[in-house]
Amino acid sequence: MTAGSTAPRTFADVYGRPPDGTWRAPGRVNLIGEFTDYNEGFVLPTTLPFATRASVARRDDDLVRVASAQYPDGTSAATEAVRVSALRPGTVTGWPAYALGVFWSLHTAGCALGGADVLVDSEVPIGAGLSSSAALECSVGLAVRELFGLDLSLEQLALAAQRAENEFVGVPCGIMDQMASLLCVPGHALLLDARSLDHRQVPFDLERSGLVLMVLDTRVRHALGDSAYGDRRSACERAAALLGVRALRDVRPEDLGAALTRLDDPVLARRVRHVVTEGARVFEVARLLEASRLEEVGPVLTDGHRSLRDDYEVSCAELDTAVDAALRAGALGARMVGGGFGGSAIALVRSGATGAVGEAVRAAFAAAGFSAPRIFVAAPAAAVAANGHPR
Ligand code: GLA
Repeated sequence: MTAGSTAPRTFADVYGRPPDGTWRAPGRVNLIGEFTDYNEGFVLPTTLPFATRASVARRDDDLVRVASAQYPDGTSAATEAVRVSALRPGTVTGWPAYALGVFWSLHTAGCALGGADVLVDSEVPIGAGLSSSAALECSVGLAVRELFGLDLSLEQLALAAQRAENEFVGVPCGIMDQMASLLCVPGHALLLDARSLDHRQVPFDLERSGLVLMVLDTRVRHALGDSAYGDRRSACERAAALLGVRALRDVRPEDLGAALTRLDDPVLARRVRHVVTEGARVFEVARLLEASRLEEVGPVLTDGHRSLRDDYEVSCAELDTAVDAALRAGALGARMVGGGFGGSAIALVRSGATGAVGEAVRAAFAAAGFSAPRIFVAAPAAAVAANGHPR
């Protein structure tokens, strides 16, 4: 492969031999249940038809190297080989930390790992709130599990990937994204209890209802997002301690009013109100999906957005513009998804209205002076092929 070429690199381009195999893990969109996972509550994500693939070959020694097909011009050759046992949190930065962190996490948990060469290739939009990090961790995790014969359930693998992100990369995320990447199946949403990791598949048949789930990627990521995620998480832990519960999941919706009167800090009270009402919205949406009343999910999503915007305060002008424009153009409901301060919103739309909604969002972005959003259909998957690739 010559420098400057734009064709993706293959494993053989980078390592001069074929991989032992390729393992795939998809991104996700969360239908409802935002910032409930680290409060030990419930979430309801669904899979995206876009994935990260890890091609991996075992090595005879205990060295590991990673490379990305997204850097075809040689700006990022494989990382320097490092002994699995020498990996330490804080020593690796950028995307390689997510891949190497999985080796670190499994090795320090006592799994017997040898060395490996890894090439990752991702079609999940990065920084769009669609879980590209978890897709990367989980594709590598699945490869390592199989190649080294590790006796780990998907739940254990998800926890190992989360630990890689928390401790090796240094992002205090919850467990939703890793569980979604490993356990979501097309045509369903995953109702997950983030405390026990109990889960069940809830039918999510958009096609039968003549509906489409659109992703409105603002393509912005405000710097505030990184610190705000941890700040919100600590605020929730502080509120739980003040209320005398293990986690905010333990505040029942019917006890919310009384709980709020016990919190002097109005900011803390708003955070609690979001988490508790959002937990109730998860069950409401799961109930509507199970009853095949998909159109009624729309207003619940929009309520979720208002709660994230006003109570959790994690939205931004671009996300609010996308949501408002989609609703004005006839979307049944819309809300921001993921960690906030940029990334994507989702809109639940009748299949005939996707063009109008897309146009309205593009026009609103242009009128506000924002750069153009990236808009695509997340589900049903068949519509995606017609609509093209999100990259
Ligand atoms: C990010 C985190 C998740 C979750 C969401 C918000 O995606 O990785 O664990 O907390 O934000 O719901």
